[in-house]
Amino acid sequence: MVERPASAVKELVENAIDAGAKSVEIEIDDGGRAAIRVSDDGCGMARDDALLALERHATSKIHSADDLVGIATFGFRGEALPSIASVSALTLETSPADGAGTVVRVIGGAVTEVADGARRRGTTVSVARLFHNVPARLKFLRSARSEWRAVADAVTSLALAQRGLHVTLTQDGVRAMTLPGATSLRSRVGAIWGGAYADALVDVDDVAGTVYVTGLVERPSDVGTRTRRAVLVINGRAVRDAGLVRAAEAAYRSTIPAGLRPSIFLDISVSAESVDVNVHPAKAEVRFRDRWVVERAVENAVRRALGTPASSHVVGTWGSNGTPSVADERVLLRSNAHTLGPLDPTPEPETRETETVPPLVQLRRTYLMYEHDEGVVLIDQHSAHERVLYEQFMNRQPTVQRLLFPLTLHLGPAEGDAFEENRELFEKLGFEIEGFGGHTLLVRSVPMPHERFDAERCLRETLDALTGDRMPGTATRHERLAATVACKAAVKAGDTLSAAEMRALYLALGRTTLPAHDVHGRATIVRLSWDELERRFGRR
Ligand SMILES: Nc1ncnc2c1ncn2[C@@H]1O[C@H](COP(=O)(O)OP(=O)(O)O)[C@@H](O)[C@H]1O
Ligand SMILES: [Mg+2]
Repeated sequence: MVERPASAVKELVENAIDAGAKSVEIEIDDGGRAAIRVSDDGCGMARDDALLALERHATSKIHSADDLVGIATFGFRGEALPSIASVSALTLETSPADGAGTVVRVIGGAVTEVADGARRRGTTVSVARLFHNVPARLKFLRSARSEWRAVADAVTSLALAQRGLHVTLTQDGVRAMTLPGATSLRSRVGAIWGGAYADALVDVDDVAGTVYVTGLVERPSDVGTRTRRAVLVINGRAVRDAGLVRAAEAAYRSTIPAGLRPSIFLDISVSAESVDVNVHPAKAEVRFRDRWVVERAVENAVRRALGTPASSHVVGTWGSNGTPSVADERVLLRSNAHTLGPLDPTPEPETRETETVPPLVQLRRTYLMYEHDEGVVLIDQHSAHERVLYEQFMNRQPTVQRLLFPLTLHLGPAEGDAFEENRELFEKLGFEIEGFGGHTLLVRSVPMPHERFDAERCLRETLDALTGDRMPGTATRHERLAATVACKAAVKAGDTLSAAEMRALYLALGRTTLPAHDVHGRATIVRLSWDELERRFGRR
């Protein structure tokens, strides 16, 4: 169970937390191979309890049978302290109140000394010469540096889970981390990795039934540019759970290139009865009564976060500490999705959103620009339209045009085969196509994304991409085809858009679930803050 210094540190810090500590000091020498010391200001132990605690299966944490259901504390097996003591030279100094206390020394599991020792309320456990009597374990310890890294990782996870705790970590006498008790995850992350790192993360806050998901996740445009970190906290404890990490990552689908992994810091609350955290001896894996429900809640929560303005690319700072102002919600992004139309220059009668669209300017026949309270917002017209079409295709609500004169396409055998294989998917995208003998297709209806749309060219290029396996790397074939057709069908850089088309694109983008990201993992929106401009012009 105690495999390396990091696992001993984790057990000792969890005991401190269970003891109600407000502050924990952790000192590590030689990566924990020479010494580990964990001091807390928790409830401490009376002498009898201290001696009992060093015996196997002594735990003070089960008071009733109910405690076995939905364990709120970190351990209830009463094994950590004795098993660490059995493979080290351990000193336990503890006191339930300031003043008189107890010192117990144990070597290789045998108590060698019990003495008085004055100290303030709390407990200090010093572990020296870990595994000195277990050569097999000792042999498998890595270098001091990698053991130290594992310790630092474990402490970081614990600190993120227990944000109120004051934590210090010292390596060979040098302070490596000082974390004052924090009130929010953002400030904790900022204390660990810096304010700029923390400010660039997007808030997650969503509830689905009894599953409550909060936390911080990386902006898609930042993914891959910084160290990837994933921390999951369930009901207050850091866990590793590949399934939940996958669920969170699935939310990024179509916003980042395949293969990149986002940083995620998620706090998940579920009712205590629906989770069993004590199944794995290292207590890092979780068993859920209904795993699927939790995974779906996580994916939806993250996806919703990625649909907020805060997730779009920003140059400078936008609003206070990088979070969006209310104005963002008002101006660009709207959540009420109704049926999306094409970039139709004739405004639909039910469109009563004229006031919510700011004056838009087209730049370089490529970008739409508008002014915002916080700065200038630039939209890439192609990327944005691609996102709009992709979601239309995925929701099976493309605008379809029936051709007056069906289009005839003569295909080579490879394209013909690619078409046959994907026939149904093409139909979902709004193509109505009949085989016409051999590899000749008769196209009766096509999606109608905008006036300049060249359906024949789009179809040919898509079939070409299908045979050449040059599809964007998202999960399903439907998604890949939708992404490809969206890319071919979207307005291009270089297309002049009318004012009405710009407005339609703006509104349609605002109705997508992920307006800030195109389907290749690029930004659709770049926000350049006044703040940043003023800095560059030397105005501040
Ligand atoms: N830092 C501490 N402060 C107060 N009590 C402690 C501390 N560490 C351990 N204990 C006591 O020792 C017992 C045994 O600890 P441990 O072996 O980790 O088992 P468990 O935490 O699973 O109960 C705990 O139940 C607790 O009563
Ligand atoms: Mg314990």
